[in-house]
Amino acid sequence: MARIPDGFIDDLLARTDIVEVVGARVPLKRQGKEYSARCPFHDERSPSFWVSPTKQFYHCFGCGAHGTAISFLMNYDRLEFLDAVEELAKRVGVEVPRDTRSRNEDSDTQELFNALEAAQRFFLKQYASSGKAQGYLDSRGVSIDIRDRFGIGYAPDGFNALRDALGTDERRIKLLERGGMLSKNDSGRVYDKFRDRVMFPIHDRRGRVIAFGGRVLDKEDGPKYLNSPETPLFHKGRELYGLWQVRQTHNKIPRLIVVEGYMDVIALFQHGVDTAVATLGTATTPDHAELLFRNAADVYFCFDGDRAGRGAAWKAVESVLPRMKDGRQAFFLFLPDGEDPDSLVRSEGAEGFDRRLRDATPLSQFLFDSIATDVNLNTLEGKGRLAERAKPLLAQIPDGAFADLMKQRLTELTGVGGRQATPETHVPTQRAHSGGGRHAPTPRRSLVRSAIGVLLQKPSLAAGLTPPYRFSALRQPGIDLLTEIVEVVQQRPEISTGALLEHFAEHPQSGALQKLASQSLPGNDDTLQREFFDAVGQLEKQMVEQRLAELQMQQGESGLSDEEKRELLALLQARLSRPRAPN
Ligand code: UTP
Ligand code: MN
Repeated sequence: MARIPDGFIDDLLARTDIVEVVGARVPLKRQGKEYSARCPFHDERSPSFWVSPTKQFYHCFGCGAHGTAISFLMNYDRLEFLDAVEELAKRVGVEVPRDTRSRNEDSDTQELFNALEAAQRFFLKQYASSGKAQGYLDSRGVSIDIRDRFGIGYAPDGFNALRDALGTDERRIKLLERGGMLSKNDSGRVYDKFRDRVMFPIHDRRGRVIAFGGRVLDKEDGPKYLNSPETPLFHKGRELYGLWQVRQTHNKIPRLIVVEGYMDVIALFQHGVDTAVATLGTATTPDHAELLFRNAADVYFCFDGDRAGRGAAWKAVESVLPRMKDGRQAFFLFLPDGEDPDSLVRSEGAEGFDRRLRDATPLSQFLFDSIATDVNLNTLEGKGRLAERAKPLLAQIPDGAFADLMKQRLTELTGVGGRQATPETHVPTQRAHSGGGRHAPTPRRSLVRSAIGVLLQKPSLAAGLTPPYRFSALRQPGIDLLTEIVEVVQQRPEISTGALLEHFAEHPQSGALQKLASQSLPGNDDTLQREFFDAVGQLEKQMVEQRLAELQMQQGESGLSDEEKRELLALLQARLSRPRAPN
């Protein structure tokens, strides 16, 4: 990935106003110094999403979403990091600097995108003049509008059509090969991978073609569907066919329906069920689950009702469990024998399909039903076995109300395995973690944590310290981080909380920093200032004690140099001249 200098990100965030960026996408209401809204990342009736212009940071007390203008764009517009940076840079009219190595990488990738785009144009042109391909889509009842919207094309018969049209020199042939468009035989000759097939382009999150699926027109001619192989642009386990079209159609996707095939997505869309995506014939991976829930809070998985279908559904369960944060829901729809979503929506229409979705099995039920199939719950042995199977599964669910309710259900079924959920544990995860919510008293924290916490509220306080920072030699967790933060602020006294967090985005403690930053500490600027300098003062005192102990020990063991003796004396005097900290 291209490296962007840290200083540039700091600058970019300093020039960007997060309130404008968020406000352009979500209606914000001014509330004192901050802005609130109904959270765009989970469903809610009353607003728990806050944007702080002073911190340049957003945070949702309901679902825990938080971050800077960059992470907002990544999550809301679903952009990759670099694209989000580009977007902000465009807004404020600056150029994103990159080093040369990454420029080469970028241009390689760009060429690959161009090659696939050229292939897509080629297939569309071929389709326009192929009565056979058009006749096939007619026979399957695919409307002209849907053909356009999904960019359906045709790869002509023969072994060299695409290669001859686009592979005009060695370099271009290599590109097409890297893009998965050509195959190679044993003697090293390359030829078209897709021949005499209806072509379904697969788009990435920004609508660029990254791969294809090709379906045979006539039966009995090789595999029914051929998919592009894994390429630098295409990783099957991370992409969802149709997601681009769904996102083009919806600003906020109400739910996502996961089906198996290209034609299922297309038929559903044509009949008005326009939120279906397909996993391209693979099992639901953890990456899929992440992508699904980043786009919608409710996800419906459609599977065949047979054994294979239930097996596939179980794979999906395993992928979604660790992502079942509060507010997210997963359902399972098992299809009648011999039907797929394509055939169902054609015979029952959108209403019929919606009715089936409404009756879909919730994850909780499917999970307990599945692990209880061969268990006799009337015996203690059976209950024990169920509890044994459930525990590792339930342990994967993130803390929160849903996790508590699942444990409670296990207790109902077996009498073991779950502790009774208390009202307190029903507080959404993030609130439980961030110390009791917006206005609750802050729990006791270590001095270092307290100093960092205040700095994240008001970074400019650190500009009031003068180096050398004596506390930085203390051996305590977090001291190095505190020192680093102070140093960053000394260099950029105007830095906002958001930019500071972005600066430490790669830091192992960045998660903890984000949580600390999301807290709204009680008190005004004066109290924050006092808290910070108190904490730093205490730390410096501890430093004096630490150094004294060191020197005294050394004095007993090996003696002190003249300089160390002077230091010891100075430290002892410093201690005497100040009242000892109460302990
Ligand atoms: P299906 O065989 O259920 O096909 O495969 P379908 O989607 O109903 O297709 P139509 O209606 O006959 O056109 C489901 C999915 O599995 C993958 C494809 O992604 C397909 O859409 N698949 C299937 C393959 O990759 N290769 C195959 O040979 C068959
Ligand atoms: Mn089908």
